[in-house]
Amino acid sequence: MQLSIIVPTFNEAPNVAELIRRVTAAADGIDAEVIFVDDSTDDTPDVIRAVAASASLPVRLIHRSSRAGGLGGAVVEGFALAESDTCIVIDGDLQHPPEEIPVLYERFARGDVDVVIASRYVGGGTSTGLADRTRVLVSKAATALTRAMFPIRLREVTDPMTGYFIVDRRAIDAATLKPRGFKILLEILARKNLRIAEVPFEFAGRHAGESKASMRQGLHFVAQLTALRFGKMSLFAVIGGLGAVVNLGILWVLTGMGVDYIIAAVIAAETTIIGNFLLLERFVFHDMRAAASGGWLRFAKSFTFNNAEALIRIPVMALMVESWHISAVLATALTLVVAFFVRFVFHSLVVYAPRKAGVEESRARKFVDELDAQAMAPGEL
Ligand code: GDD
Ligand code: MN
Repeated sequence: MQLSIIVPTFNEAPNVAELIRRVTAAADGIDAEVIFVDDSTDDTPDVIRAVAASASLPVRLIHRSSRAGGLGGAVVEGFALAESDTCIVIDGDLQHPPEEIPVLYERFARGDVDVVIASRYVGGGTSTGLADRTRVLVSKAATALTRAMFPIRLREVTDPMTGYFIVDRRAIDAATLKPRGFKILLEILARKNLRIAEVPFEFAGRHAGESKASMRQGLHFVAQLTALRFGKMSLFAVIGGLGAVVNLGILWVLTGMGVDYIIAAVIAAETTIIGNFLLLERFVFHDMRAAASGGWLRFAKSFTFNNAEALIRIPVMALMVESWHISAVLATALTLVVAFFVRFVFHSLVVYAPRKAGVEESRARKFVDELDAQAMAPGEL
């Protein structure tokens, strides 16, 4: 087997037969297989099985019961199951013309790179298939931002957001990948220094069906970008900062409505604590949730910690002012910085600690290592 063609699908039934027809024609002369990694809720798997039965190249279907990691998770699963180390990733809606497969394959076969990217923004490439002007703008802005954040790693990459590429899976450090949502190529490129080449392609309109792009995918992307670039701790900091702003906003509105300021401050603080917990669950510690204790227990730990911290911080601050004779502003700043680190460590090691303990020491060891990796790992060096 020379080539494994990985197709992530979510409800793409009307596109399957046409995709296989065009892939078969394009890959003529290459010993290739097609792997559908499918998360569909419709009859796509049945359609794939039917098409596979009469296809002239091997077509495999993996239907996942969980949609873990979305599109990106599906692609990573495809890498693991591929017969060949050389893998092409292509969308199932024909926005990535299969006729580029031999072009990507031949460029890759020269053997001087680990990954060849089909780019909309190089040479004769186009992005005409993007749904509307808003999508074009969002795509351009996201691409510029991403490249600006990884000036070294993405130096030669014009289209880090594309989902069409060929890669030697041995060059990818699969264990370090944290696929979430659409941008799996970015995840691959940001985690490891790879030798990269690009070829232009024309991003076509959808053959049939609807795009699965959404606001939620956009949020996943922002979280992914922040985590890749600055590590988990900075995402934690961003959410904490956001919480502080919301806290002040609620306080301002409530006191404006005539609510007593103490009551307003309590309502603002508790609302922020709960809101922050939900954001942390969703965007910072999502990958540790499955192994951790139940949701309510995590909430109880986080809620208790934050309330205790708020109660302790003020007397500690007062003590610092009294005994060290420093200003209240400096003392507050110091307590806030210390509280930030303690809060991060507490959440990483206690709130999201894995439920089942192995050997006590090795668990602690593993977690300190994990914490170190998550907090310090930069996106590039
Ligand atoms: N298995 C699986 N699970 N596949 C999914 C999922 C999922 O949760 N979500 C989407 N897909 C599949 C779709 O069925 C399709 O084959 C492919 O991933 C791309 O999804 P689209 O819904 O067509 O999204 P798009 O066209 O907006 O985004 C594509 O274009 C971008 C360039 O603008 C994606 O290919 C991106 O990777 C690409 O960067
Ligand atoms: Mn698409």
